[in-house]
Amino acid sequence: MWLGWRTAALVAAAAFLIYSLLPFLAPDDVAPSESQGSQSSAAARKGKGAAAGAYPRLEAEERILGARVWSVAELALHDGQDRNRPLLLAIVGEVYDVGPGARFYSPGEGYAEMAGKDASRAMSTGKFDVDAVPSLDGFSEEQVSAVMQWRSFYRQHEEYRFVGFLEGPYYGAHGSPTLELQRLEDTQSKTEKVGKTMAEARQRFKACNSKSKQGEDNTELWCDPGYHGPGTMPVYLTAYNPEAKKRESWCACASPAARSLAHSDDDAPATAPNELVFKFTDYPECKGKMRCWRPKKAGPPTTRKAK
Ligand code: HEM
Repeated sequence: MWLGWRTAALVAAAAFLIYSLLPFLAPDDVAPSESQGSQSSAAARKGKGAAAGAYPRLEAEERILGARVWSVAELALHDGQDRNRPLLLAIVGEVYDVGPGARFYSPGEGYAEMAGKDASRAMSTGKFDVDAVPSLDGFSEEQVSAVMQWRSFYRQHEEYRFVGFLEGPYYGAHGSPTLELQRLEDTQSKTEKVGKTMAEARQRFKACNSKSKQGEDNTELWCDPGYHGPGTMPVYLTAYNPEAKKRESWCACASPAARSLAHSDDDAPATAPNELVFKFTDYPECKGKMRCWRPKKAGPPTTRKAK
């Protein structure tokens, strides 16, 4: 079943997160259980690729105009079938030598479909069988961002090496970036800015503490003057970015003074790009209290404006 772009973007972002956290979560040789899905279990099945010996490697190049430009046909020769050629893949038109990742990318391994080509589209959808193509046409900003995060992964990887640009939608025959690439870069930097503003809001109005015990009907919410600041109380906060049409809500700890300083009109025009509009809604059980109990079943409080 196709669950939609938003879900796909979330899966990709989650996959990226899972993968980034792996070194902190499990020792090297701990593999996920087979029930986690064919892709991940296939990825974790180390064997053929690693056992058959290392691929030769290419020297790293500088990621600048003048780096080698690969054709699609040249890159295809590096899909891992020939053990005498370096194992390569491309992401958003950047070609990487991923030889040390043979356990993922060599024939028969979980991510073999990425080798010898630019499979950027599948980096968001996860559908390596049908989406192993470079085009991100029709993608949402979140999906583009997920793919660009994977590009950062390869850029920053300690063992993988940048070895040139791939001629195609993102780089021309001489390695010049295309307008399509510029469009993706713009989308990415916009998404980053939006994410940064939201992260700042979460710093400014830190999430309240909450505790709910099994068998109890209520959730306890409270603010800690030492951590959240003196005079802070739990309140339902919505931060809205009118430009990006992005909205996030959470139980925050805010003092009455901080609340009145922040915007509280949802319809107010943003005065600066990516400026957030804040709306505070009291939890009826928490009004004026530092600590309160809310029924677990209660949804968000009605969005009556509160200053
Ligand atoms: C959009 C979907 C996904 C994409 C694009 C993706 C991509 C990748 C890539 C590129 C690698 C190899 C990274 C490297 O070179 O070091 C990898 C490894 C891995 N992935 Fe995924 N993945 C996806 C979904 C998932 C899901 C859903 C899971 C698990 C629930 C998962 C679990 C893993 C694990 C465990 C590894 C490391 C295996 C090992 O260390 O042996 N992936 N993934």
